[in-house]
Amino acid sequence: MRVGFYQSNPVFGRVGENVEQAVQEISRVNADLIVLPELFSTGYQFVSRQEVSEFAEDIPTGKTCQAMIGLAKELGMFLVFGLPEKDDDSLYNSAAVVGPKGFIGRYRKTHLFAEEKLFFDPGNTGFRVFDIGPAIIGVMICFDWWFPESARVLGLLGADIICHPANLVLPHCQKAMVIRSLENGVFTITANRVGTESRGDYEALTFTGESQILDNDGNVLRKLGDNDTGIVLSDIDPKQARDKSVTTRNERFKDRRPEFYGPLTNFS
Ligand code: ACM
Repeated sequence: MRVGFYQSNPVFGRVGENVEQAVQEISRVNADLIVLPELFSTGYQFVSRQEVSEFAEDIPTGKTCQAMIGLAKELGMFLVFGLPEKDDDSLYNSAAVVGPKGFIGRYRKTHLFAEEKLFFDPGNTGFRVFDIGPAIIGVMICFDWWFPESARVLGLLGADIICHPANLVLPHCQKAMVIRSLENGVFTITANRVGTESRGDYEALTFTGESQILDNDGNVLRKLGDNDTGIVLSDIDPKQARDKSVTTRNERFKDRRPEFYGPLTNFS
């Protein structure tokens, strides 16, 4: 299976141009699955809930989702991408999964970061996996990485590959994802962006790039620089992720002792 990420530098608010650029770049490559960044169509730094509302789209009937569905059908490819979603009066920082047969599903970001808490509603889908044929994929968005429970739940749900659209500004995620891959025995694809946004009265944000594809032992298969844009691909066997052994006597999930993990769900 050939998988990859698109590392971009979108211009805030230029949805048509950002989507068109992604379509052009993706049309040039031959792959089964490509992960795009969080909020890839709009840019990141919204300054009000009203502004999110102006850009947010229905999933899957909105323009961005329809363009990506068209692309996935034309190329016979699966795509995972982040965009602001509107559902009645609710606004979510979401990711959509589409493929050669059209829309597959959505995930709404569970752990909102910084000012996102002011402008978006907390996601209500919970973590989800999608069987796309050659692999079972799970989705988490950017700051979800800070909470090891996100990747753990996706691993326990059977994800072979965690697709991770991101707009990272803290320096630790790429290293943390090595451990998320290793401890869950899953491939991870973090699709980040580059560039700086400085909008309204908010602190300027510089996005850290260094998107990466990791194997199920936490090895870096491919990585891009902190200022580059483009698509990077890797050939993987996602079924490797179904072997959860650590030693001949240890196994990642079966050796867990959930009876001692109560505070994970009881803590408040
Ligand atoms: C982030 O969650 N976009 C940092």
